[in-house]
Amino acid sequence: MLTAETLTVRLGAHEILQAVDFTAHAGEVTAIVGPNGSGKTTLLRALTGDVAFTGAARIGALDVARAKPWELASRRGVLAQFTGVAFPFTVAEIVRLGQASGTAGAATDLTEQALARVGLAGFAPRRYHDLSGGEQQRVQLARVLAQVWEPLDESGPRWLVLDEPVASLDIAHQIEVMELARAFARAGGGVVAVMHDLNLTAMFADAVALMARGRVVTQGPVTAVFRDSTLSDAYGCKLRVNVAPPSSTFILPHAALT
Ligand SMILES: Nc1ncnc2c1ncn2[C@@H]1O[C@H](COP(=O)(O)OP(=O)(O)OP(=O)(O)O)[C@@H](O)[C@H]1O
Ligand SMILES: [Mg+2]
Repeated sequence: MLTAETLTVRLGAHEILQAVDFTAHAGEVTAIVGPNGSGKTTLLRALTGDVAFTGAARIGALDVARAKPWELASRRGVLAQFTGVAFPFTVAEIVRLGQASGTAGAATDLTEQALARVGLAGFAPRRYHDLSGGEQQRVQLARVLAQVWEPLDESGPRWLVLDEPVASLDIAHQIEVMELARAFARAGGGVVAVMHDLNLTAMFADAVALMARGRVVTQGPVTAVFRDSTLSDAYGCKLRVNVAPPSSTFILPHAALT
């Protein structure tokens, strides 16, 4: 389990997260949704030990505030919302950065497997900066995968912590990445993913936490959280939740219905 208890983050004069409780279970894809500025990235950064907080955050048996960097690196890989790369690295070198901080070793075939997993077979020798935005995002995902390659080991589940993993991807690669996340979870790992696409979330998430104004408003199964009034209040626009037979939930903005 990955948990936050009364987690509060202050940055400068602002309280960015206010006593947030959050739980994600191994074996599931847990999505975090909510409007811009609601605190999703800040919650991920606290859960992964990248920003100071009060309250508690745990990844399995690890107390995030006390864990050593290598202990955290062995249990969770983090895809940031934005990743700057300052040096002229090749694609393979980026993926090996992930491998080096994980436990799977530096085997070349793992680099290739991780790239193939995100649809980038053959890209290893290319210059990272020559790739398109979506390709770069998938290289970063390959780096994270190479870090936490085995979803489960004798110490328990590993975690993929993904901040908007499909934000710059075309629809086929969005589905590929969400299927990859689901497969990681079904193999015993855990996935926490910040999402803006509510329909993709409805399709792939087992559980969802809805954030607004620095708080988790509600958390649970998609059908419990995705209600007209709950979503409309959080996002500040009229949204309607629909169900297509047999049970596919989809969300449309009100304007599209009139
Ligand atoms: N270092 C900082 N100093 C001051 N305010 C910050 C800092 N980092 C984030 N914030 C503020 O905290 C709030 C939450 O930011 P956060 O990045 O967590 O939002 P988010 O939900 O991930 O939004 P988005 O969907 O746009 O990525 C925002 O209002 C942001 O301006
Ligand atoms: Mg964000």
